[in-house]
Amino acid sequence: MKPFQYTSMQAYEAAVEQANSQPEQFWSEIADHFVWRKKWDRVLDWNFTEPEISWFNGGQLNITENCIDRHLPTRADQVALVWEPNDPKEQAARYTYRELHMKVCEMANILKRNGVKKGDRVCLYMPMIPELSFAVLACARIGAIHSVVFAGFSANSLADRINDAACTVVITADAMNRGPKQMPVKRVVDEALETCPSVGCVIVVSRLGWPVMMHPQRDVWYHRELQFVESYCEPEVMDSEDMLFILYTSGSTGKPKGVVHTCGGYMVYAEYSFRNVFQYQDNDLYWCTADIGWITGHTYILYGPLLAGATTLMFEGVPTYPDPGRFWQVCDKHGVNVFYTAPTAIRSLMQSGIDHVLPYSLHSLKVLGSVGEPINEEAWHWYSTHVGKGRCPVVDTWWQTETGGIMISTLAGVTPMKPAHAGLPLPGIQPVLLDSDGKELQGNDVEGYLCVKFPWPSMIRTTYGDHERCRINYFATYLGYYFTGDGAKRDENGLYRIIGRVDDVINVSGHRFGTAEIENAINQNKAVVESAVVGYPHDIKGQGIYAYVICAEKPENEDWLRDEITETVVEQIGRIAKPDKIQFVSGLPKTRSGKIMRRILRKVAEGELSNLGDTSTLLDPNIVDEIVAGKQ
Ligand code: WT7
Repeated sequence: MKPFQYTSMQAYEAAVEQANSQPEQFWSEIADHFVWRKKWDRVLDWNFTEPEISWFNGGQLNITENCIDRHLPTRADQVALVWEPNDPKEQAARYTYRELHMKVCEMANILKRNGVKKGDRVCLYMPMIPELSFAVLACARIGAIHSVVFAGFSANSLADRINDAACTVVITADAMNRGPKQMPVKRVVDEALETCPSVGCVIVVSRLGWPVMMHPQRDVWYHRELQFVESYCEPEVMDSEDMLFILYTSGSTGKPKGVVHTCGGYMVYAEYSFRNVFQYQDNDLYWCTADIGWITGHTYILYGPLLAGATTLMFEGVPTYPDPGRFWQVCDKHGVNVFYTAPTAIRSLMQSGIDHVLPYSLHSLKVLGSVGEPINEEAWHWYSTHVGKGRCPVVDTWWQTETGGIMISTLAGVTPMKPAHAGLPLPGIQPVLLDSDGKELQGNDVEGYLCVKFPWPSMIRTTYGDHERCRINYFATYLGYYFTGDGAKRDENGLYRIIGRVDDVINVSGHRFGTAEIENAINQNKAVVESAVVGYPHDIKGQGIYAYVICAEKPENEDWLRDEITETVVEQIGRIAKPDKIQFVSGLPKTRSGKIMRRILRKVAEGELSNLGDTSTLLDPNIVDEIVAGKQ
C-alpha cells in the first residue's frame, strides 16, 4: 500500500490539513512515487482567470511505463486485465501484466507502422473488447492523443468528434454484441468518414467475424498488421503538460466539446483517487461496469487500476443479459472484491427483484461504488443490503469528465458514509458552495452552487481547439472559481449531497446531454418547426427526456411522427439520446423578448400542473393551458 493511501480518519484529516496548507509539497510527495524520466521544475502554476493550469511542469514521463513497465519486476505474472464477454458461454480472457505489455506494444507498433506520430489524434470507436484497452494504452505509449467515442453514438456524432480534433486514424471493429443483439460498427465508421477528410487509415479488429467493406487505400485488419510488428515498443517521453487524451462531453450550449487532459497531473490523480476511494488492496479484483467511452472507463477501468498494479475487469455485455442476474453471476464467477456501477443500473436491477440476486453468494465483495448521477436513498439501501449484504461500504463518487477523477466521495470504510451523500472531499480538493451573488457560503447546513477554489492535478486544461469556450464554461460564471454546473448541499456535518445540474444539461442514465443538443437533433426532422427539451424525474434513468415539438402542420398520426422524430434523434446523436416523451404543441411559452420559459415546461413535464408560478410575463399565457392539457 502506498503512503498516500489513507486508511484511518486521522490519516485523512492530516492529509487534508497538509494538502490545504502546503499543496505543492503534498502533491510532489505523491508524485514522487511514480516513474519520471525527468523530474519536474515546478509543482504548480495556476491562474483561474485565463485559465492557465500546469502541474509538474518540466517533468517528463510516459503514463504506460507507469501503468505497465514499472510493475513488471514484481507483477509480470499477475493478471492485469480480465475480460468477461457478452455471452456467459464464451470464454473469459485474462492478460497478465507481461501479456498486456506485449499487446500494448504491438498495437503501438501498428499505429506507428500506419504513420501515427506523437501529437497526432487517434479516434477509437470500439465495443468493450480487450483491443480497446490495448488501443488506448498504445496511443499513450507513442504520445498520440486518444479520443474515445462511445460506440452508441451515431455516424453523425462520430464525424463531428473526428473532425473537431482532425483525427488521422480511427481504430474500430467489424461489429459488436449488445445483449442478445449484434450491431454493425465498421459500417457506422464508413458512413462517418464520408465527411472526415483528415482520416487516412482505419484499423479494424474482427470481433464477430462479420464481412466488412475494406477500403483499399485506407483500411487494414488488426490481425493482419500483427504479423508485421515487433512485441516491444519504446515509450515516448512526454512532457507533463503534453495532451494525453480528448474526451467529448455535452454542455449547456452548442456541440459537445473536447475536454483535454494532460499526462502528469492526470496520472498522479488517477492512482491517488483510485487507491483512496476504493481502499484497494493488493490482489483485489476490481470491476467498474462503465464503458471505456466515458471518463469513468478511462480513469477507473484503465488508468487508475493499472497505475495501482491492480487486476481490473472489463465487461463486454449489459446488466440484463442473459438475465438481470448477470452482474452478480460475474461477481461470483471471478470473485470480484470491489464493484463500481451506476445508479441507473442499480434501479433497473432493483426493479427486476431480488430473486435475481439471491442465487449468488457475493461473498467476495468488500466495497461498492456508485457514479454518474445522484443515487436515491431507496437504491442506496437496496444496493447496500442485497448486494453488499450490509457489510460493504457504499461509496457515492461525485466527479465529472472535466475533473478527470473522483472529487467528493466517502473513502471506503475510512470517512463517514451517509445514504445519498457523496460525503467529504478527497484531500487536496477544495469545494465551496456559492450563493447566487457568487459569495462563498460559510459553515454547514447550506445549499448553493458547487465550485472548486483551488486546482487539482487532473483538472481540465482546455477544450480542444477552443480555449475561450473552456474559460466561459467553467471559469467565467464565478471569477476565481472552477464552476461545476451542479448544485449541492453541505449537511450539518460537512458532508456533501449533490442535487443535480443547475444548467441546461440533463443526465439520462448517467449520460450527459445538453437540452439544446437534443433540440437541434429534433429540429432536423422535416416536419418540425421548433422544439424545447427538458428533463423530468424518471424512475430508472434518473432523468428522462421530455420534448415539446411544434410542427408546421398538425400531425396526421401522432404516434407515427413520434417514431420518426425518435429516429431522427438516433441518427443525429445516437440511441442513447432517444426522447422518452414527445408532446406536440402549437406554441411554446415565451416571454415578450422571445425567451422560452423552461421553468414552466419543466414543471409540466414533472407533473406539477397546479403550481406553475407567474405566467403573466408570457407573450401568450393561453399556451400554458394547452400544454397542461396535452401532457404526456
Ligand atoms: C455530471 C458529470 C464522472 C462521472 C460520470 C459522469 C453528475 C456524477 C455523481 C454523483 C450526483 C453525479 C453531476 C456531474 N454526477 N457523479 N455521484 N452524484 N451526481 O460524468 O458525464 O462528465 O457527468 O454527472 O451532475 O456534473 P459526466
